Amino acid sequence: MKAAFYEAVGPAHEVLQLADIPEPQPAPGEVRVRVAWSGVNPSDVKSRAGLRSQTLPFPRIVPHSDGSGVIDAVGEGVSRARIGERVWLWNAAWGRAHGTACEALCLPQRQAVRLPDAASGEAGACLGIPALTALHAVLMDGGVAGKTVLVAGGAGAVGHCAVQLASQFGAARVIATVSSDDKARIAREAGADAVVIYKTEPLAERMAELTQGQGVDRIIETDMAANAAANLDMLRPGGEVVAYGSGASPLAIPFYPLIVKNLQLKFFMVYHLSESDRARATGTLNRLLERGALRFPIAERLPLERIADAHQRVESGRAVGNVVLRVGATGDTP
Ligand SMILES: NC(=O)c1ccc[n+]([C@@H]2O[C@H](COP(=O)([O-])OP(=O)(O)OC[C@H]3O[C@@H](n4cnc5c(N)ncnc54)[C@H](OP(=O)(O)O)[C@@H]3O)[C@@H](O)[C@H]2O)c1
Repeated sequence: MKAAFYEAVGPAHEVLQLADIPEPQPAPGEVRVRVAWSGVNPSDVKSRAGLRSQTLPFPRIVPHSDGSGVIDAVGEGVSRARIGERVWLWNAAWGRAHGTACEALCLPQRQAVRLPDAASGEAGACLGIPALTALHAVLMDGGVAGKTVLVAGGAGAVGHCAVQLASQFGAARVIATVSSDDKARIAREAGADAVVIYKTEPLAERMAELTQGQGVDRIIETDMAANAAANLDMLRPGGEVVAYGSGASPLAIPFYPLIVKNLQLKFFMVYHLSESDRARATGTLNRLLERGALRFPIAERLPLERIADAHQRVESGRAVGNVVLRVGATGDTP
Protein backbone atom coordinates (compact mmCIF):
# COMPACT_ATOMS: atom_id res chain seq x y z
CA MET A 1 0.00 0.00 0.00
CA LYS A 2 1.02 3.61 -0.56
CA ALA A 3 2.41 5.52 2.44
CA ALA A 4 4.22 8.76 3.17
CA PHE A 5 6.94 8.64 5.82
CA TYR A 6 10.20 10.11 7.07
CA GLU A 7 13.29 8.47 8.56
CA ALA A 8 15.07 11.66 9.68
CA VAL A 9 13.83 15.07 10.81
CA GLY A 10 14.33 18.03 8.50
CA PRO A 11 12.70 20.22 5.82
CA ALA A 12 9.50 18.77 4.32
CA HIS A 13 10.77 18.36 0.75
CA GLU A 14 14.02 16.76 1.97
CA VAL A 15 12.74 14.14 4.39
CA LEU A 16 9.21 13.18 3.37
CA GLN A 17 9.14 10.15 1.06
CA LEU A 18 6.45 8.09 -0.64
CA ALA A 19 6.69 4.34 -1.18
CA ASP A 20 4.75 1.09 -1.13
CA ILE A 21 4.97 -0.58 2.26
CA PRO A 22 3.34 -3.80 3.52
CA GLU A 23 -0.30 -3.49 4.50
CA PRO A 24 -0.70 -3.80 8.30
CA GLN A 25 -2.84 -6.52 9.92
CA PRO A 26 -4.92 -5.68 13.01
CA ALA A 27 -3.65 -7.10 16.32
CA PRO A 28 -6.12 -8.13 19.05
CA GLY A 29 -8.24 -5.13 20.08
CA GLU A 30 -7.35 -3.18 16.93
CA VAL A 31 -9.23 -2.10 13.82
CA ARG A 32 -7.73 -1.48 10.40
CA VAL A 33 -8.88 1.76 8.79
CA ARG A 34 -8.79 2.38 5.06
CA VAL A 35 -7.88 6.09 5.10
CA ALA A 36 -9.93 8.57 3.05
CA TRP A 37 -8.56 11.87 4.42
CA SER A 38 -5.46 12.66 6.46
CA GLY A 39 -5.38 15.94 8.41
CA VAL A 40 -2.16 17.97 8.73
CA ASN A 41 -1.68 19.86 12.00
CA PRO A 42 1.10 22.19 13.26
CA SER A 43 2.07 19.42 15.69
CA ASP A 44 2.79 16.94 12.85
CA VAL A 45 4.84 19.57 11.07
CA LYS A 46 6.85 20.49 14.19
CA SER A 47 7.69 16.81 14.85
CA ARG A 48 8.83 16.24 11.25
CA ALA A 49 10.89 19.45 11.28
CA GLY A 50 12.69 18.34 14.45
CA LEU A 51 11.39 21.21 16.60
CA ARG A 52 10.41 18.78 19.37
CA SER A 53 13.40 16.46 19.18
CA GLN A 54 16.21 15.77 16.74
CA THR A 55 15.92 12.06 17.55
CA LEU A 56 13.15 9.96 16.05
CA PRO A 57 11.21 7.78 18.50
CA PHE A 58 10.87 5.12 15.75
CA PRO A 59 13.16 4.39 12.78
CA ARG A 60 10.41 5.29 10.30
CA ILE A 61 7.41 7.54 10.95
CA VAL A 62 4.21 7.68 8.94
CA PRO A 63 2.98 11.10 10.14
CA HIS A 64 -0.40 12.67 11.04
CA SER A 65 -2.59 12.06 14.05
CA ASP A 66 -5.88 13.04 12.43
CA GLY A 67 -7.79 11.28 9.69
CA SER A 68 -11.00 9.63 8.60
CA GLY A 69 -11.89 6.51 6.67
CA VAL A 70 -13.68 3.20 6.85
CA ILE A 71 -12.89 0.14 9.00
CA ASP A 72 -12.11 -2.78 6.67
CA ALA A 73 -10.74 -5.40 9.11
CA VAL A 74 -10.82 -6.06 12.85
CA GLY A 75 -8.53 -7.94 15.25
CA GLU A 76 -9.50 -10.54 17.77
CA GLY A 77 -11.91 -9.24 20.40
CA VAL A 78 -13.38 -6.50 18.18
CA SER A 79 -16.94 -6.90 16.89
CA ARG A 80 -17.09 -7.71 13.18
CA ALA A 81 -20.09 -5.36 13.09
CA ARG A 82 -17.55 -2.52 12.98
CA ILE A 83 -16.38 -3.55 9.50
CA GLY A 84 -17.73 -0.96 7.06
CA GLU A 85 -18.11 1.75 9.74
CA ARG A 86 -17.05 5.31 8.79
CA VAL A 87 -14.73 6.60 11.49
CA TRP A 88 -12.60 9.55 12.57
CA LEU A 89 -9.31 8.98 14.38
CA TRP A 90 -7.49 10.57 17.31
CA ASN A 91 -3.83 10.30 18.44
CA ALA A 92 -3.00 8.07 15.45
CA ALA A 93 0.60 9.35 15.37
CA TRP A 94 1.06 10.20 19.03
CA GLY A 95 3.55 7.78 20.60
CA ARG A 96 3.05 5.58 17.54
CA ALA A 97 5.07 5.01 14.38
CA HIS A 98 2.09 4.72 12.08
CA GLY A 99 -0.22 7.71 11.53
CA THR A 100 -2.78 8.48 8.83
CA ALA A 101 -0.58 9.56 5.88
CA CYS A 102 -1.05 6.21 4.18
CA GLU A 103 -3.74 4.04 2.65
CA ALA A 104 -4.38 1.91 5.75
CA LEU A 105 -3.40 1.82 9.42
CA CYS A 106 -4.23 -0.28 12.46
CA LEU A 107 -4.90 1.23 15.84
CA PRO A 108 -6.78 0.39 19.08
CA GLN A 109 -10.47 0.37 18.34
CA ARG A 110 -11.33 3.17 20.81
CA GLN A 111 -9.15 5.55 18.71
CA ALA A 112 -11.54 5.03 15.78
CA VAL A 113 -14.78 6.85 16.59
CA ARG A 114 -17.94 6.48 14.49
CA LEU A 115 -18.25 9.43 12.09
CA PRO A 116 -21.87 10.64 11.96
CA ASP A 117 -23.47 10.46 8.51
CA ALA A 118 -24.02 14.23 8.54
CA ALA A 119 -20.26 14.86 8.72
CA SER A 120 -18.06 14.79 5.63
CA GLY A 121 -14.90 12.69 5.57
CA GLU A 122 -12.75 15.80 5.27
CA ALA A 123 -14.38 17.25 8.40
CA GLY A 124 -13.58 13.91 10.04
CA ALA A 125 -9.89 14.65 9.45
CA CYS A 126 -10.17 17.93 11.46
CA LEU A 127 -11.54 16.48 14.68
CA GLY A 128 -8.82 14.62 16.60
CA ILE A 129 -6.66 17.69 17.22
CA PRO A 130 -8.44 20.96 16.28
CA ALA A 131 -11.99 20.14 17.40
CA LEU A 132 -11.09 18.15 20.54
CA THR A 133 -8.66 20.89 21.61
CA ALA A 134 -11.27 23.61 21.11
CA LEU A 135 -13.94 21.57 22.85
CA HIS A 136 -11.78 20.82 25.88
CA ALA A 137 -10.72 24.47 26.15
CA VAL A 138 -14.38 25.48 26.18
CA LEU A 139 -15.80 22.73 28.41
CA MET A 140 -13.03 22.32 31.01
CA ASP A 141 -13.46 23.43 34.59
CA GLY A 142 -17.12 24.34 34.51
CA GLY A 143 -17.38 25.50 30.89
CA VAL A 144 -18.24 28.97 29.66
CA ALA A 145 -21.98 29.38 30.29
CA GLY A 146 -22.70 33.00 31.20
CA LYS A 147 -19.04 33.97 30.80
CA THR A 148 -17.27 36.46 28.57
CA VAL A 149 -14.73 34.52 26.53
CA LEU A 150 -11.86 35.87 24.46
CA VAL A 151 -10.61 33.51 21.75
CA ALA A 152 -7.16 34.53 20.50
CA GLY A 153 -6.68 33.76 16.80
CA GLY A 154 -10.39 33.27 16.13
CA ALA A 155 -9.84 32.28 12.49
CA GLY A 156 -7.25 29.56 13.24
CA ALA A 157 -8.10 25.87 13.00
CA VAL A 158 -8.56 25.54 16.76
CA GLY A 159 -9.65 29.14 17.34
CA HIS A 160 -12.42 29.05 14.73
CA CYS A 161 -13.80 25.93 16.30
CA ALA A 162 -13.50 27.43 19.81
CA VAL A 163 -15.52 30.48 18.72
CA GLN A 164 -18.31 28.25 17.41
CA LEU A 165 -18.28 26.08 20.54
CA ALA A 166 -18.10 28.90 23.10
CA SER A 167 -21.08 30.55 21.49
CA GLN A 168 -23.04 27.26 21.38
CA PHE A 169 -22.18 26.37 24.98
CA GLY A 170 -23.78 29.48 26.41
CA ALA A 171 -21.01 32.08 26.64
CA ALA A 172 -22.56 35.45 27.43
CA ARG A 173 -20.19 37.02 24.93
CA VAL A 174 -17.51 35.71 22.60
CA ILE A 175 -14.77 38.10 21.52
CA ALA A 176 -12.11 37.02 19.03
CA THR A 177 -8.77 38.50 18.07
CA VAL A 178 -7.60 38.19 14.47
CA SER A 179 -4.94 39.78 12.29
CA SER A 180 -6.97 41.02 9.30
CA ASP A 181 -10.39 42.07 8.02
CA ASP A 182 -10.79 38.78 6.15
CA LYS A 183 -10.17 36.81 9.31
CA ALA A 184 -12.53 39.14 11.21
CA ARG A 185 -15.32 38.13 8.82
CA ILE A 186 -14.52 34.44 9.37
CA ALA A 187 -14.59 34.80 13.15
CA ARG A 188 -17.88 36.73 13.03
CA GLU A 189 -19.46 34.07 10.83
CA ALA A 190 -18.36 31.48 13.39
CA GLY A 191 -20.35 33.33 16.05
CA ALA A 192 -18.02 35.95 17.54
CA ASP A 193 -20.03 38.86 18.98
CA ALA A 194 -17.06 41.20 18.64
CA VAL A 195 -13.71 41.03 16.88
CA VAL A 196 -10.52 42.96 17.55
CA ILE A 197 -7.80 43.19 14.91
CA TYR A 198 -4.86 42.79 17.25
CA LYS A 199 -2.26 43.91 14.70
CA THR A 200 -3.75 47.37 14.23
CA GLU A 201 -6.05 48.07 17.19
CA PRO A 202 -4.96 48.75 20.80
CA LEU A 203 -5.98 45.39 22.23
CA ALA A 204 -6.20 46.15 25.96
CA GLU A 205 -8.14 49.39 25.35
CA ARG A 206 -10.58 47.71 22.96
CA MET A 207 -11.13 44.89 25.42
CA ALA A 208 -11.81 47.37 28.22
CA GLU A 209 -14.35 49.16 26.00
CA LEU A 210 -16.04 45.90 24.95
CA THR A 211 -16.38 44.70 28.56
CA GLN A 212 -17.20 48.10 30.14
CA GLY A 213 -13.93 47.89 32.04
CA GLN A 214 -14.81 44.54 33.63
CA GLY A 215 -12.43 42.30 31.68
CA VAL A 216 -13.09 38.81 30.37
CA ASP A 217 -13.60 35.57 32.32
CA ARG A 218 -11.69 33.14 30.13
CA ILE A 219 -9.07 33.58 27.43
CA ILE A 220 -8.53 30.65 25.07
CA GLU A 221 -4.97 31.25 23.96
CA THR A 222 -3.14 30.16 20.79
CA ASP A 223 0.13 32.08 21.39
CA MET A 224 0.90 32.24 25.08
CA ALA A 225 4.43 33.63 24.67
CA ALA A 226 3.20 36.59 22.64
CA ASN A 227 0.11 37.37 24.69
CA ALA A 228 0.72 36.23 28.28
CA ALA A 229 1.41 39.62 29.84
CA ALA A 230 -1.38 41.42 27.94
CA ASN A 231 -3.80 38.66 28.89
CA LEU A 232 -3.37 39.42 32.59
CA ASP A 233 -4.57 43.00 31.99
CA MET A 234 -7.61 41.84 30.03
CA LEU A 235 -8.89 39.30 32.59
CA ARG A 236 -11.35 40.16 35.30
CA PRO A 237 -10.46 39.17 38.90
CA GLY A 238 -10.73 35.38 39.22
CA GLY A 239 -10.40 34.95 35.46
CA GLU A 240 -8.32 32.35 33.69
CA VAL A 241 -6.16 31.76 30.64
CA VAL A 242 -6.56 28.36 28.98
CA ALA A 243 -3.43 28.08 26.85
CA TYR A 244 -3.11 25.37 24.23
CA GLY A 245 -0.45 26.94 22.00
CA SER A 246 2.62 29.16 22.16
CA GLY A 247 4.82 30.62 19.45
CA ALA A 248 7.86 30.20 21.75
CA SER A 249 8.71 28.31 24.91
CA PRO A 250 9.94 30.96 27.40
CA LEU A 251 7.12 32.88 29.08
CA ALA A 252 7.62 36.31 30.65
CA ILE A 253 4.74 36.78 33.06
CA PRO A 254 4.54 39.43 35.79
CA PHE A 255 3.73 37.88 39.17
CA TYR A 256 1.76 40.71 40.85
CA PRO A 257 -1.25 40.95 38.52
CA LEU A 258 -1.59 37.18 38.78
CA ILE A 259 -1.79 37.14 42.55
CA VAL A 260 -3.59 40.43 43.08
CA LYS A 261 -6.38 39.43 40.68
CA ASN A 262 -6.47 35.74 41.70
CA LEU A 263 -5.87 34.72 38.11
CA GLN A 264 -5.31 31.17 36.93
CA LEU A 265 -3.15 29.92 34.09
CA LYS A 266 -4.07 26.53 32.67
CA PHE A 267 -2.28 24.47 30.05
CA PHE A 268 -3.16 21.22 28.37
CA MET A 269 -2.19 18.97 25.48
CA VAL A 270 -5.00 17.27 23.63
CA TYR A 271 -2.89 14.11 23.30
CA HIS A 272 -3.02 13.73 27.08
CA LEU A 273 -6.71 14.19 27.81
CA SER A 274 -7.88 11.95 30.65
CA GLU A 275 -10.15 9.02 29.79
CA SER A 276 -13.18 10.85 31.18
CA ASP A 277 -12.41 14.18 29.45
CA ARG A 278 -11.85 12.37 26.15
CA ALA A 279 -15.05 10.37 26.45
CA ARG A 280 -17.01 13.54 27.20
CA ALA A 281 -15.35 15.45 24.34
CA THR A 282 -15.78 12.72 21.70
CA GLY A 283 -19.41 12.10 22.72
CA THR A 284 -20.22 15.82 22.70
CA LEU A 285 -18.46 16.32 19.40
CA ASN A 286 -20.39 13.52 17.73
CA ARG A 287 -23.70 14.92 18.98
CA LEU A 288 -22.80 18.31 17.47
CA LEU A 289 -21.76 16.67 14.19
CA GLU A 290 -25.01 14.70 14.01
CA ARG A 291 -26.94 17.96 13.90
CA GLY A 292 -24.50 19.66 11.55
CA ALA A 293 -23.67 22.24 14.21
CA LEU A 294 -19.98 22.69 13.39
CA ARG A 295 -18.14 23.92 10.31
CA PHE A 296 -14.54 23.22 9.39
CA PRO A 297 -13.16 25.57 6.72
CA ILE A 298 -10.71 23.67 4.54
CA ALA A 299 -7.75 25.80 3.49
CA GLU A 300 -6.43 23.22 1.05
CA ARG A 301 -7.16 19.70 -0.20
CA LEU A 302 -4.14 17.98 -1.73
CA PRO A 303 -3.43 14.41 -2.81
CA LEU A 304 -1.22 12.30 -0.52
CA GLU A 305 1.61 12.61 -3.06
CA ARG A 306 1.79 16.36 -2.25
CA ILE A 307 2.34 15.85 1.47
CA ALA A 308 5.50 17.99 1.47
CA ASP A 309 3.57 20.94 -0.02
CA ALA A 310 0.86 20.40 2.59
CA HIS A 311 3.45 20.52 5.38
CA GLN A 312 4.94 23.70 3.96
CA ARG A 313 1.50 25.29 3.78
CA VAL A 314 0.86 24.58 7.47
CA GLU A 315 4.39 25.65 8.37
CA SER A 316 3.90 29.00 6.61
CA GLY A 317 1.18 29.93 9.11
CA ARG A 318 -0.78 31.33 6.14
CA ALA A 319 -3.33 28.52 5.83
CA VAL A 320 -6.73 29.80 6.92
CA GLY A 321 -8.48 26.64 8.04
CA ASN A 322 -7.40 23.01 7.91
CA VAL A 323 -5.08 21.42 5.38
CA VAL A 324 -6.15 17.88 4.44
CA LEU A 325 -4.76 15.17 2.16
CA ARG A 326 -6.98 13.03 -0.03
CA VAL A 327 -5.75 9.46 0.34
CA GLY A 328 -8.31 6.93 -0.87
CA ALA A 329 -11.95 6.82 -1.94
CA THR A 330 -13.47 9.64 0.08
CA GLY A 331 -17.17 9.11 -0.50
CA ASP A 332 -17.57 12.91 -0.10
CA THR A 333 -19.48 14.91 -2.66
CA PRO A 334 -17.05 17.37 -4.23
N1 LIG B 1 -2.19 21.90 23.24
C1 LIG B 1 -2.64 21.18 22.25
O1 LIG B 1 -3.03 20.04 22.42
C2 LIG B 1 -2.73 21.80 20.89
C3 LIG B 1 -3.72 21.37 20.00
C4 LIG B 1 -3.83 22.01 18.76
C5 LIG B 1 -2.93 23.01 18.39
N2 LIG B 1 -1.95 23.35 19.27
C6 LIG B 1 -1.02 24.43 18.93
O2 LIG B 1 -1.79 25.62 18.83
C7 LIG B 1 -1.30 26.46 17.81
C8 LIG B 1 -2.41 26.79 16.80
O3 LIG B 1 -2.82 25.61 16.13
P1 LIG B 1 -3.87 25.71 14.93
O4 LIG B 1 -3.99 24.37 14.33
O5 LIG B 1 -5.10 26.44 15.36
O6 LIG B 1 -3.04 26.65 13.91
P2 LIG B 1 -3.55 27.69 12.80
O7 LIG B 1 -4.70 27.14 12.06
O8 LIG B 1 -2.34 28.12 12.08
O9 LIG B 1 -4.11 28.89 13.67
C9 LIG B 1 -3.30 29.72 14.45
C10 LIG B 1 -4.01 31.07 14.49
O10 LIG B 1 -3.42 31.88 15.49
C11 LIG B 1 -3.31 33.21 14.96
N3 LIG B 1 -2.24 33.88 15.69
C12 LIG B 1 -0.90 33.73 15.51
N4 LIG B 1 -0.25 34.50 16.39
C13 LIG B 1 -1.19 35.13 17.13
C14 LIG B 1 -1.15 36.06 18.19
N5 LIG B 1 0.03 36.50 18.69
N6 LIG B 1 -2.30 36.49 18.75
C15 LIG B 1 -3.48 36.06 18.26
N7 LIG B 1 -3.60 35.19 17.23
C16 LIG B 1 -2.46 34.73 16.68
C17 LIG B 1 -3.03 32.99 13.48
O11 LIG B 1 -3.44 34.07 12.71
P3 LIG B 1 -2.48 35.32 12.39
O12 LIG B 1 -1.08 34.79 12.22
O13 LIG B 1 -3.04 35.89 11.13
O14 LIG B 1 -2.61 36.18 13.57
C18 LIG B 1 -3.91 31.79 13.17
O15 LIG B 1 -5.23 32.21 12.80
C19 LIG B 1 -0.10 25.73 17.21
O16 LIG B 1 1.05 26.18 17.88
C20 LIG B 1 -0.36 24.28 17.58
O17 LIG B 1 0.82 23.51 17.65
C21 LIG B 1 -1.82 22.78 20.50
